[in-house]
Amino acid sequence: PQKALTASDIRARKGGTPLVCLTAYTTPVARIADAECDVVLVGDSVGMVLHGLPSTLPVTLEMMILHGQAVARGLERALMVVDMPFGSYEEGPAQALRSAARIMAETGAGAVKLEGGRHMAETIRFLTDRGIPVMAHIGLTPQAVNALGGYRVQGKGEDAARILQDAAAVTEAGAFSIVLEKVPAALADRITADLPIPTIGIGASAGCDGQILVIDDMLGLFDDFKPKFVKRYAQLATDARAAVRDYAAEVRAREFPAACHIFTDEGAD
Ligand code: KIV
Ligand code: NA
Repeated sequence: PQKALTASDIRARKGGTPLVCLTAYTTPVARIADAECDVVLVGDSVGMVLHGLPSTLPVTLEMMILHGQAVARGLERALMVVDMPFGSYEEGPAQALRSAARIMAETGAGAVKLEGGRHMAETIRFLTDRGIPVMAHIGLTPQAVNALGGYRVQGKGEDAARILQDAAAVTEAGAFSIVLEKVPAALADRITADLPIPTIGIGASAGCDGQILVIDDMLGLFDDFKPKFVKRYAQLATDARAAVRDYAAEVRAREFPAACHIFTDEGAD
């Protein structure tokens, strides 16, 4: 079997062919993503797209580990990164190490991701010094939605300085790559040009070193709402609703099951 990509392999892709990244939360979807992706992220977006939660805040370490184990069974080549959920790392480096060590040991992930810039630099340094590759995540950090006052673009105008400082701090702390979420394209391009590590954009810029989307969003499977930065490459929820409608009609009309779906005394099983 093919050897899986490592965090160092991903870091070495700075400035090369753009990194293809998607989220996944289950084994069958991980298999589909693995065919094309360099990185598969078990995102805490799992709480909203699979569990119907109103934000990522209620997601627990146990949920991330369970979904991480499922995704690991579907991957051969992609680097698996698992999100550290809200409340599992913010107390400080020691708590973050305990949580990250459980994720790495129990799922086989090749790296963890955590949200935050300057104020997370010490924690990122602590983890990377102890053998845990960290993907940083700055700009719009959904776990801070209550402090940010909604899911707004971050780093507009004068506020760009704050995002630039965050990018520099997490890089200096040893992150192997950095997610830039919902920042102006020109700012994403500047960070991509300045930093020695790959930037992975979501609502950022085509000039980033890679792109990531929530797979349920790009498949049109989660269609409660569509952020501007999402492009739908399929309409799976629409297809699924039509399929359930057809099934219901055929059951009511006694058209399903048909002859080819049923068994007789003589026929093959
Ligand atoms: O949880 C998630 O899916 C993420 C990506 C959108 C970057 O953090
Ligand atoms: Na996330």
